[in-house]
Amino acid sequence: MRIAPSLLAADFAKLGSEVGRVDASTAEWLHLDIMDGNFVPNISFGPAVVKALRPFTRTFFDVHLMCSKPDVLLEPFVKAGADQISVHVELGSSVNSLLWRIKSLGVKAGIVINPPTPIEQVLPYLDKVDHILVMTVNPGFGGQSFIHEALPKVQRVFTWRMERGLSYTIGVDGGVDFKTAGECSKAGADTFISGTSLFGKRKLGDGVRKMRELVKASQRRPTKAATHRI
Ligand code: DX5
Ligand code: ZN
Repeated sequence: MRIAPSLLAADFAKLGSEVGRVDASTAEWLHLDIMDGNFVPNISFGPAVVKALRPFTRTFFDVHLMCSKPDVLLEPFVKAGADQISVHVELGSSVNSLLWRIKSLGVKAGIVINPPTPIEQVLPYLDKVDHILVMTVNPGFGGQSFIHEALPKVQRVFTWRMERGLSYTIGVDGGVDFKTAGECSKAGADTFISGTSLFGKRKLGDGVRKMRELVKASQRRPTKAATHRI
């Protein structure tokens, strides 16, 4: 299980020390939201910022690309220190080659799905990805309300993983707080991206610990029958 604070909710005037707060916590990943003002109606930051932050922590850098043309950004983000790059399934026919390219650059590859997109669209990629990220808000901004209708998607990717003996991680992103994280965990999520709820805390480390305890308490486990099938 992983807790991943999302840097989008940090104080942008002091990013170095904000990353230091994550480093001092027990968070396993740092989630980095990359927005291009086209795929989503907002702009965040690019590879130069990620590169500048790399020396502040050894935490796993989880890059979430919300960009219309991610192909040109893959190598710059790997060079900047990304450990994993995820692209949106909504990009359609280019997804296969993007995943292949990410892996050939030597980092982990993930796929992201927006709330209105049918979950079946990730089916062709299940055995090609390290991570599946289910958006629980429409991407573009932090601080939005959790969309409960996305939870059945988490259940589906959990079941598919079990049935096929795969090992991708299952993340949830958007509106994940000290209440909704438990619901996500129950549905089968194992990776919890949270911006506002964690960076909003004066002691980020306490927030990470609290969220971890909460998700542990409501963790979904494979049923005996399903475990047997693997
Ligand atoms: C939304 C981003 C999320 C966001 C989560 O487009 O992908 O990662 O930072 O932030 P909160 O937890 O504030 O919803
Ligand atoms: Zn994100």
